[in-house]
Amino acid sequence: MLSPLIKDILSAPADLQEVRVRGWVRTKRDLKNLVFVEVNDGSCFSSIQCTFDRSAAVGAAVGAALGSALDAASLAALEGLSTGASVEVWGRLSPSPAAGQAVEVAAAGISLIGEAPAGAYPLQKKRHSLEFLREIAHLRARTNTFGAVARVRNRMAYAIHEFFQSRGFQYIHTPIITASDAEGAGAMFQVTTLDLAALAESGKAPDYGKDFFGKKAFLTVSGQLEVETYATALSRCYTFGPTFRAENSNTTRHLAEFWMVEPEISFAHLEDDMELAEAFLKELFTTALTSCAADLAFFDAHIEKGIIEALQSVVASKFVHLSYTEAVRELESAGSGGRFQFKPYWGCDLQSEHEKFLTEQLVKGPVIVTDYPQEIKAFYMKQNDDGKTVRAMDVLVPRLGEIIGGSEREDKLDRLQARMQALGMEPADYGWYLDLRRYGAVPHAGFGLGFERLILYITGMANIRDVIPYPRAVGLADF
Ligand code: 4AD
Ligand code: MG
Repeated sequence: MLSPLIKDILSAPADLQEVRVRGWVRTKRDLKNLVFVEVNDGSCFSSIQCTFDRSAAVGAAVGAALGSALDAASLAALEGLSTGASVEVWGRLSPSPAAGQAVEVAAAGISLIGEAPAGAYPLQKKRHSLEFLREIAHLRARTNTFGAVARVRNRMAYAIHEFFQSRGFQYIHTPIITASDAEGAGAMFQVTTLDLAALAESGKAPDYGKDFFGKKAFLTVSGQLEVETYATALSRCYTFGPTFRAENSNTTRHLAEFWMVEPEISFAHLEDDMELAEAFLKELFTTALTSCAADLAFFDAHIEKGIIEALQSVVASKFVHLSYTEAVRELESAGSGGRFQFKPYWGCDLQSEHEKFLTEQLVKGPVIVTDYPQEIKAFYMKQNDDGKTVRAMDVLVPRLGEIIGGSEREDKLDRLQARMQALGMEPADYGWYLDLRRYGAVPHAGFGLGFERLILYITGMANIRDVIPYPRAVGLADF
């Protein structure tokens, strides 16, 4: 049987009398005969205080009366105890006289499971910089910040499944290795078992027919195309998995390996897609506020002031919709005084300074920008009748910019073929995708939420490398 976690002990203290706490020492303080040891097991933000009374050991009779006589082994363990050591503590749960905690453990004994010598353990009681912690990513989950990030990540992954499962969506496992470039952006990692060194030596061009898959293969940039095939059979689907982009963008918002949630809905148009995206984000924020309250209180106090209020206000708001054309008009009139480094014009890709302006200055909240020029969007998006724009939507949020990108998909075979041809795509490679437009085609739409961007937004953390356990980016694949 698994013993109760600290979370269980703190949330149902009335049910527990004698407890056993297992975890890692955060702090140890001595006060005359008393020793206070804060133990954390990561199950929740709080540590539990374990109070030892050394005098109980001396006067054995008194100690026995209190039920807390410390044996020699416990006294020895307490002696050398330092931050980071793993321990097991047993004792009685009692009301705590200390502020900020309802209960503590009146400890009867402790055993040291694994030491963490103070001179060597890199995580001392002081505050460490996020940069330093990135270098010891294998230990950073033991800090308040990274423990909280991990718990929010976990809860949000669960909430994503809850949201879709409760609405009749089926979870589809789309492939990680693929031969198609879903976004047509070309930023793909190639997967090969060819001997690159031997090839280089021979000076010959690689023969991909002899490669593992008999052709060129890549890590997926998105599960969308494959999830579309299931959505046009099971009506509502989603995929949620790792995606990979070999973009050379060394920013605080880009990773080379990130997790993406992609719902796809049949018999749906862009309006349905936007409605779903808004409901989705609001439900995730609501769950974070209610189920991760202690972790969010920490982020609000120590990472980004006002984050809780910001999330609450987004939940209460109605997302503003703005067409790309309207957005550019606003940017042009705001940018006349040289406000932007990149001058906005119709046809430009929105830069992060533009997204910042739209969300933080113009709307002061999330905004959904729709109907982008087709040249700056992927080949599969539904073409508007103006011949210039596509039924795309990006959800932009303050502080971060794009958190969701989606669209209605082109469901007309001839239009999709024409677009692919114009982009020089090989129709033979996408025959299966075109079949969805040949047989039982339906209007359908979907979007992708970058999971780490969601976590950035909810926690207020500034760098995407701090919201995934082991970040992968240009020049970075440690651990
Ligand atoms: O806008 P993107 O490229 O859209 C797609 O991939 C579509 N197939 C989605 C769909 O319609 N099913 O990416 C979607 C989201 C972005 O809005 C962003 O949140 C995140 O994925 N994202 C990244 N997150 C971290 N690092 C990167 N390099 C990212 N690129 C995109
Ligand atoms: Mg996008």
